[in-house]
Amino acid sequence: MKDLLSLKTSLHEEIEQILNEQIKHEAHASALYLAMSSWCNDQGLDFSADFFARQSDEERTHMLKLFKYVNDRGGKALSPEVTNVPNDFESFRGIYEQTLQQEMFVTNQFNQIADKCIRLKDYVTFQFIQWFLQEQVEEEYVARRILEMFDVIGEEGTGKWEIDKHIPKVAFDE
Ligand SMILES: [Fe+2]
Ligand SMILES: [Fe+2]
Repeated sequence: MKDLLSLKTSLHEEIEQILNEQIKHEAHASALYLAMSSWCNDQGLDFSADFFARQSDEERTHMLKLFKYVNDRGGKALSPEVTNVPNDFESFRGIYEQTLQQEMFVTNQFNQIADKCIRLKDYVTFQFIQWFLQEQVEEEYVARRILEMFDVIGEEGTGKWEIDKHIPKVAFDE
């Protein structure tokens, strides 16, 4: 009889571990965007507050998608502990810069997951994470387009509110 553990799970230990790490990153992103939403709300930047509230929901959806996958494959998804969530931010532009940084970090994480999948020949997980890699293209695109508005419109005078008003119109066209 073969190793009993392999009957229970089809996930390589390293893959299970890196996916659980990603669950943590998505949960952290969700909490970060929620904090940004609150900060924007406090500053009277209502469209950005809505934008980050939606982003926060999306990140939780990403987390749950990974969570379900780990369990579906016979692994054990771990409910993540979320720590170090900042609630204060330096500037309006700063939060969008941090957003782009956050999304670039996540893209890099998924690239590393992809590398590991190939190395360990886990083509099922490799295929599963393609959706996330595609999603990252959109997330980075939107953050960059928003940052461009800061350059074009500028924050002086009513600029801030002008930028905020345009936030809901920034969309990725597939
Ligand atoms: Fe995400
Ligand atoms: Fe994201």
